[in-house]
Amino acid sequence: MPKITVDGKTIECKDRTNILQACLDAGVEEPYYCYHPGLSVVASCRICLCEVEGIPKLVPSCQTQVRDGMVVHFNSSKSIANQKQTMEYLLINHPLDCPVCDQAGECLLQDYSYEYGRAQSRFEEDKAKKPKKDVGPDVLLYSDRCIMCTRCVRFTREVSGTSELYVDGRGYKEEIDIFPGQPLNNKLSLNVVDLCPVGALLDKDFLFQQRVWLLKRTPSISPVDAGGENIYLEWNEGKLYRIKPRYNAEVNKWWINDDTRHSYKAVHAENRLRQAMKKELGALIACGFNDAAETAVKQLKQIVTDHGQGSLYAVLSPMMACEEAYLLGQLIRSIDAQATLVLGPVPRSDDDVFKHYLDGKETFRIQGEKVPNRKGIEHVMQKLGGSAIDFATFSTSTAGAVKGGWIVGGYLSNWIGAEVPAVLRSGFRVVQDILPNELTRQCDVLLPSAAWAEKSGCWENYQGKVQAFDAAVAPPPGARVEGNVYHKLLGKSGMYDAEVLRNELGEPYSQAKLPTEADLAGQPAFEFVEL
Ligand code: SF4
Ligand code: FES
Repeated sequence: MPKITVDGKTIECKDRTNILQACLDAGVEEPYYCYHPGLSVVASCRICLCEVEGIPKLVPSCQTQVRDGMVVHFNSSKSIANQKQTMEYLLINHPLDCPVCDQAGECLLQDYSYEYGRAQSRFEEDKAKKPKKDVGPDVLLYSDRCIMCTRCVRFTREVSGTSELYVDGRGYKEEIDIFPGQPLNNKLSLNVVDLCPVGALLDKDFLFQQRVWLLKRTPSISPVDAGGENIYLEWNEGKLYRIKPRYNAEVNKWWINDDTRHSYKAVHAENRLRQAMKKELGALIACGFNDAAETAVKQLKQIVTDHGQGSLYAVLSPMMACEEAYLLGQLIRSIDAQATLVLGPVPRSDDDVFKHYLDGKETFRIQGEKVPNRKGIEHVMQKLGGSAIDFATFSTSTAGAVKGGWIVGGYLSNWIGAEVPAVLRSGFRVVQDILPNELTRQCDVLLPSAAWAEKSGCWENYQGKVQAFDAAVAPPPGARVEGNVYHKLLGKSGMYDAEVLRNELGEPYSQAKLPTEADLAGQPAFEFVEL
């Protein structure tokens, strides 16, 4: 491993890495704008220039490979003069509208102005005025804030492969733009907002919603497909405001798809179910949650007394955490040892595959399986043993084949459609869900449940990778976390604890741990990839 000295500090580097990345890996902060390890290196912003002993002129640290014994200075007078000049140049036409800019608080231009800039501007002429542009359904471009790092342009070429963005004009008239009639409208489009080091590219959804320093972050997993993208849920005062990618080299690298970003909306949907109900004299009436849950269990027991074993079923949703599915399986089998376990519907479409615009190599894939935990639920069903089938097979059963069951939804949109399968239209039905649908209107007992961002658990992605997630916000009043409900109905002692259940489920579930503060702090924001 080569060793280099940066401002008097010796650091060990990976072979063939560049000076800037070596510094970032070693936790040595140096300024950079245009560099990103997931994109090609263009060395255009010039803020990262450093002095290397033996080389007469400054070199871009993002583009200069380390050599053993290299002595690098970011704090020499030459390097500092370059940092100040670069900052002064970048700020010449910058509007300085930090008080109304969404990026304030996480803006590299703002941070470096404090650290490397001049206290006062010497520019007396009029600033160039550039327009605000609506570049796509989800993204706005405030051109006057742009520092022309071209990260966004490179992303649309090298990762999404869609090439919607380009650099128009030359010199101080340069602007990022889209081609006429070709908006930035791919399923990875919002990654350019994360990549933009200033507030030029903005997420329409988050525009003027919150100051970023008020947001807290909870590590979580994407609920929209089987990819298992690692994310941060960002929230304040019990409300989710945005979802950002969390780096995972094996799963999603630095990127997430736009559906993942928008998935928080279902959590705060106005029509979230909040009131437990039970059917009396043919009509659903509001009742206490405990009353509804106890009625459900009592009625299911009565069915087994009247019709014998094998007359019950439980629909385990692939939106459920493995731990919850395991408990519901135990609950239904404690009432009817021969109850059938049914894997809930698994909506599918084709995978969305993204390729590098030049070499056609795959860069990102959005899984076509539009639920996060089909694999995990199948494994839990195997572990529980007994009769287990998928929803398509179950739906073909004739009405009355089973006499009662417990059905869990939890999907982020209407999953049952207008036509409820005949087998679910008869018998006694307990439904646990987050949003209203035809089944929640027809059922015999309704138990409002928690969305994924409101509970802890683990999901198994399409690769068989089991990943834990944590609750960021509380469920709405009246809704309860499924795991808590089953834990109580099973008469288990203590509090429901997802981690204890993961240990009970054994490998690989017992290995799934929530990232600790230390893990997250030590996680490289960037990891160098050779393109
Ligand atoms: S819009 Fe942002 S990411 Fe794109 S070139 Fe400008 S500063 Fe860079
Ligand atoms: S980060 Fe090195 S030149 Fe921009």
